Formats: sequence, structure tokens, C-alpha cells
Amino acid sequence: MFYLKYRPKTISELDNSRVRDQIKKILESKDLPHAFLFVGQKGTGKTSTARIFAKAINCLSKKGVEPCNHCKNCLAIASSTFTDVVEMDAASNRGIEEVKKLIQETSFLPMAGNYRVFIIDEAHMITSDGFNALLKTLEEPPETAIFILATTNQEKLPKTIISRCLKINFGKGNKQDIIAMLKRIGLQEKLGYETAFYSLIANHSDYSFRDAAKILEEVSMQKIKTVAELEAFLGIRGKNNLLQIIEKKDAKQTLLWVEEFSGNGGNFKNLIEDVLDELRVQLLMKKGVSKDDEKAINLTAGEIGRLIKLLMEAYQLLRSSPIESLPLEIALIEFYNDTNSKVRN
Ligand SMILES: Nc1ncnc2c1ncn2[C@@H]1O[C@H](COP(=O)(O)OP(=O)(O)O)[C@@H](O)[C@H]1O
Ligand SMILES: [Mg+2]
Ligand SMILES: [Zn+2]
Repeated sequence: MFYLKYRPKTISELDNSRVRDQIKKILESKDLPHAFLFVGQKGTGKTSTARIFAKAINCLSKKGVEPCNHCKNCLAIASSTFTDVVEMDAASNRGIEEVKKLIQETSFLPMAGNYRVFIIDEAHMITSDGFNALLKTLEEPPETAIFILATTNQEKLPKTIISRCLKINFGKGNKQDIIAMLKRIGLQEKLGYETAFYSLIANHSDYSFRDAAKILEEVSMQKIKTVAELEAFLGIRGKNNLLQIIEKKDAKQTLLWVEEFSGNGGNFKNLIEDVLDELRVQLLMKKGVSKDDEKAINLTAGEIGRLIKLLMEAYQLLRSSPIESLPLEIALIEFYNDTNSKVRN
């Protein structure tokens, strides 16, 4: 798997450039903070960075700030057998008992390294009792303990916890950074794609390095070579694509897209589900309920509502329709008829 094979192992391999520079500065400074909060969307490198950081401060033959990845400490951390690095997944260990056990661990001195590093993933899942117990330790952490809390949902963490930590914002993957990662993988796998190819994958990656690496792997396995082939391939997966076309309100183009989708063996059930999902988010955004920062589509709330109704009808009809594409086609034609007559009136 590309996304595991090419998981960054050094600070310079972190393609998230802003974070990379920040981490480097922290490692160069004399006083290491004892508690970090890594905040960011999934697949932006929080876990990878936490492990690199743990290596960098425990490596036996550091080169500057970089871990060597060869000494026995680095190797043990890489294989998750290093006793001084404790990883806890708060999604499954969220209660006070688990947190207390972790805190007990902090009182032991490091066995092989300089620091004991406690990585708490999905930290927002910890219960309020758990947070209370953790807070005391975060206030006065032992000299040799370093905490790294990682979360996708900062809003769910108590302010008291946040204020004890140095926050590093991973945000979303930036397009240029994602392209750099794809190029790095492409070069080592000798894929020979052009920049436009990587750029298109980055557009479809949901701002996640992990998703981008997965798409690249899929695409190279399918022997997809050109940007045109890639467009067709991503069209099969692409809910955004159909919505982007619908929003242009060109009935002919839309129907051509559906025909091509059908010709490529696309699955209409999945397509309608995806589009409905997306439309729901868009509707909530329009109504100010969700502050999701997806790109807003160019349809009114009324149009989105009508489209949702029509697509739900199409979804119902899928099973009984002799032609798989027909319910969607009818729904789209009806949508355009409505919209156009509104314009004329
Ligand atoms: N900054 C990055 N640079 C390069 N690859 C990255 C980066 N962040 C994530 N990846 C890719 O995504 C995968 C998942 O990253 P991970 O650190 O587990 O993200 P998170 O913990 O934020 O969900 C990695 O194995 C790697 O392939
Ligand atoms: Mg993670
Ligand atoms: Zn090392």
C-alpha cells in the first residue's frame, strides 16, 4: 500500500510544509514543550508526525534534528515495540481507568531513550472524568514525559486541556503539498506521470494525503496513463463531477455525462447516494446549520431541495427500472424543466 510504504519517516519527508517547519523549529529549541496538541483533518500526518517526533527525541545517532531510522531506538519505535513510546487510541480507551493507567506510566523513567512519549490519538473521545485526571498531569508533567494529543475535533476538547498544550494546526492538506507527495511517490515507483495528472488527483483527494496516495495507487494499478483516462476514471467515483455539471444547468452536457457514466460501468445506486449526501451538506450549509467549509454550489436552497426530492424518487425507482440510467435521467430532465420555467416566468 502506497500510503503505508511512503509514510514519512523523517521530518524532511513531511510534505505538509507548514507543519514541517514548525516541528523543525521546536526540535531545534532548547526547551521542549511537554504537551502538544495536533489538530487537523484525517490523513494530514498527525500520527506520522508524532512518531517521527518520538524518534527524533530518542534517536541514538541524530543528524541535526532528524532521526537516523537505523539505531535500535528508531527501529523499535518504527515497529511499535519501544517501551518508552506509548500510543493510546482514545476511540476505544476513553474512560478514567485507561487514562489513570496511562498517567501511572508517566511516573516511570525512560528505559532506553531520553523521553517517554505518550501519543493519544482521537483525544476528543476521552470522557470528562478522563480529561480531569489528565489535566493534573498536563499541568505538571514529569521532566521526562512528553504528551502528544491528536484530534480531528478540537471543539470537543475542554479549553483547560487545550490551554496546557502547544497547538500545531495540521488543517487540511494543501494542494501543492499533496502534489509534492504524489510526485515523491511517483518518482520512486517510476510512474512517469505529468504534473497535471497529479494535480487532478490532488483535486479529488478531499484534502487528505492518505486519500491522495490511495487514489494514486488505484490509478497506477488500473494502468491509467493519460489525464483524459484519469478524468474518466475519477468520473466513475465522482459525485462532485455530476454536481459540478448540474450546477451549470446545461441539460445536454448533464445527460451526456450520465451516458458516459453508464458506459463506464458506473453504479447508479452509489452515485445517487453520494450526490444526495453532498446535497444534504450543501443544504445545511445554505441554511447556516453546518459550517462545513466545502465549496458552496451555485444552486439556491429551493433548487437543492427540489433536486433532493427528485433524486430520492429516482432512487426508489432504481430497482424496478428496466434501464438503470433511466430514473436518474428522468429526474434530471424534470429538474431542468422546472428550473427553466422558473427562469422564464
Ligand atoms: N505530511 C505528509 N506528508 C506525506 N505523506 C503524508 C503526510 N501526511 C499524511 N501522509 C500520508 O497519509 C498517511 C496517513 O497519515 P497519518 O499520519 O496517519 O494521518 P492522520 O494521523 O492525520 O490521520 C501516511 O501514511 C502517508 O502516506
Ligand atoms: Mg492518525
Ligand atoms: Zn535513530
